[in-house]
This record gives sequence, structure tokens and C-alpha cells, in this order.
Amino acid sequence: MAVILAMAGSAIGLGNIWRFPYMLGEYGGFAFVLIYIVATLLVSLPVFVAEVVIGRRSRCNARDAFVRLAPGHSGFWRITGLLPVLIPTIIASYYSVIGGWSLEYLVKAFQGVFSSLSPEQSAGIFSGFISSTWTPIVMHLLFFALCAVVVALGVKSGIELFSKFTMPVLFVLVVFIAIYSICLPGAWGGVEYIFKPDLSRMTPRTFAYAMGQSFYSLSLGMGAIITYGSYVHKNENILASSTGTAISDLTFALLAALAIMPAVFAAGIEPGAGPGLIFQSIPFIFSKMSIDMPWISGVVAVMFFLTVVVAAMTSCISLIEVVTAYLVERYHISRGKAVAAVSLVCGSAGILCSLSFGPLAGFTIGGKSIFDLFDWVASNILLLLMSLITVVFVGFVMKKDDVRDEFTNSGSLSLNRKVFPAVYFLIKWVAPVAIAVIFLTNFIL
Ligand code: TRP
Repeated sequence: MAVILAMAGSAIGLGNIWRFPYMLGEYGGFAFVLIYIVATLLVSLPVFVAEVVIGRRSRCNARDAFVRLAPGHSGFWRITGLLPVLIPTIIASYYSVIGGWSLEYLVKAFQGVFSSLSPEQSAGIFSGFISSTWTPIVMHLLFFALCAVVVALGVKSGIELFSKFTMPVLFVLVVFIAIYSICLPGAWGGVEYIFKPDLSRMTPRTFAYAMGQSFYSLSLGMGAIITYGSYVHKNENILASSTGTAISDLTFALLAALAIMPAVFAAGIEPGAGPGLIFQSIPFIFSKMSIDMPWISGVVAVMFFLTVVVAAMTSCISLIEVVTAYLVERYHISRGKAVAAVSLVCGSAGILCSLSFGPLAGFTIGGKSIFDLFDWVASNILLLLMSLITVVFVGFVMKKDDVRDEFTNSGSLSLNRKVFPAVYFLIKWVAPVAIAVIFLTNFIL
């Protein structure tokens, strides 16, 4: 049970609250949501199962798991095993920039800044903040340092215990904010934007980005779930825990969208505004609330950003942990040194990402800012690549009997026995074909 919570803790984070709403705003509204849900159930869930199977079968870290399960081909698997080191390094760099923004907004909430603001003023606070040079960098480094200290001290269990309380609180707050947001004048357009069928906005890009988002949100394709899978107890039901995590992650994402999009419409913000979307719209919600419900709006704002920061930390910690564990095992250095090395690399790369919203905004590669490039390479290219390798590994390299044995707890779970052929088919044929096609879409279109 604790492992399921840990998996949910890694999965639920800024990907749901910050990334999902702006992605759906940028890439097609309802069409994006539809593909996202289908991709999560038909592709990501099987990939999730595949990662847990690899982890629990091998009982070791992400890099060595492949080598251990495929002794004959260790050379190839040793190389691919480097992806689980490279990907989290890239993601942690820019993830902590957004973590820093959340921290800054927490400070602002404490100061009571979010009251009686017009939509223009909320947007102005955001653009003033990210285009400045120093504050976002300091906040990024502070956020990263907080996560790094937790990883270095190895107090993961502490933070997981902590997140057991914050996750339900965050859930209640998001539901509350969603209801309030839907009731704002002019908000209905946002609900329609999410749920009203408008397939004309569906483009090949919608597929690529929705699938990337689905993997990102479930922490797939970089060994995090393989690592957690190795801690899953032999008696635990893989089907139930994977489905539980996927459904709760999906629910969180949809609720966050329902909290943000109606407010975006009520405030007249452009839904395709990009990464700043939630930071522009949330202050507007709290400002309205400060008029309608002055006695609670301040507390809700502080609690909201506090829980967002904790959710972001549990995810970022899982990213830093994967790289740290690898450095410690591979080079036999102390945990502290490993964390220092990761911090140096991610901290510096994150500074560049942060500057790409301000002084370096004009610097683009292939039309993408540094921040967008990091995000795109990691989520649309590398996560898909590693997920493809993972499903091919389980479908073609591992023995079918071993996979069945692991999935059904040696045949003792009858429902798992019944659905195994379907799940295996999804892992072996549907997932690889879907991922390969969508992977190519990134380059062709
Ligand atoms: N899933 C997390 C989120 O939604 C982010 C994350 C943590 C992640 N670990 C990951 C993304 C591994 C990709 C791979 O915020």
C-alpha cells in the first residue's frame, strides 16, 4: 500500500496542476483531453504495468534491471540504461524552475498579494516576475536545494509521510477551487473548451503532445516506476496498483483543468498562453474570492500553494533520487557528493531555463526557447523512446511465462489471469506501434 502512495506521489505533481492545463489550452482543448484519456488507458497503463513488472522481477535499480533480466544482450541494455540517468537530469533542471515559481507564489500568498486584483494586474504580477533576472533564479535554486537536502539526508520516508497528508488536502482544495471557478461569471466557456467535442482542433501534434503528457504525468519512461516497482511486495496486485495510480493521476489532471480553464475564460486570458497559464489565472480566482469570501480566501491561497510546492517536491525528489542512486552505486561516492554533483548540473541548466523567460527570451533553437527545448526533448522524444524500449523489452525479450507469473502473482489472482492476454497484447503490439507512430510524428509534422 505504501508503495502505491509513493507511486502516486511521484506521479501527481506539477505535471497535473501546471502542465496539463496549459498543454490542453495550447494543443486543442477537448481533442487533447480525449486523446489524453485514450492514450492513458490504452498505452500508458500497459507501459506502467511493464515498468512495474521489470522492477519487481529484477528487484534492482532501473539501469541494471534490463541487464539482469536479459543477460545475453547486456551491451545494448547497458547503453539504453543511460537514458534513465539523462532524462531525469533534464527534467529536474526545468521542473525546479516551475517549482521556484510556485515557491514565489507561496510567499506572495503569505504576503496577501492576491486580493482585489483585476485580470490585468494578475497577469502583470506574473510577467513582471518571470521577466526579471534574479528572483526566479533565486527561487529555482532555493526549491532545488530543498529537494536536494531531502535526498541527501535520505529522509524520503519523512516526505512521503508528509505527502500522505498534503495530497488529500490538495485534492479537496482543487475540488473547491474548481467549483468556485466554474461559478465565476463568464466561466462556462472554459468548461465547454474542455468537454465540448470540437474535433477540428485535432492535429497530428495534438496526438504527439497528448501522449507525451500522459507519460510525463505518470512518471513513465525513465525508470522511476521501475525503481518503485522493485519495492512492490510480492503479494501486491500489479493490475490494481497500476490502475489505481493511473486513475487518480487522471482525475487530478482533469480536476486541475476544471479549476484553471473556467477562470482563464472568466478573466479573458488566452487559453494558449503557455507555461504561465496557471500563474496568471489562479491569482485572479483568489482575488475574486477575497471579495466573495474574504474570511477564507487568504488561507485557501496559502494552503493551495503550500500543497502545490509539496506535490512538486515529491516529484522532483523522485527525479533527483534516480540519478543520485545511480552515481552512488556506479562510482561508489557518498550520497552527499552525488547530490552535490546533480545539484551543480541541474542548478546551472535550470538557470538557463529560467533566463529563457526573461533576458534570454529572444534566444531560440528551432523556434523553441531553452525551456521549451528541454521540455520537448525530454517529454516528446526521450520519454517516448525509453517507453518504447521498455515495452519491446517486456513483449519480446522477457519470456511470456515470466511476465504472466509476475502479473498474476504466480497464477494466484484470477482476474489478473483473465485480463492477462489483453494486457499482454497491449504491451506487445498496441503500445509499441502507437508510440513509434507518434514518436515519428514529432519529426515529420
Ligand atoms: N509525473 C510528475 C508530475 O506529473 C513529474 C515526474 C516525476 C516525472 N518523475 C518523473 C516525469 C519521471 C517523467 C518521468 O509532475
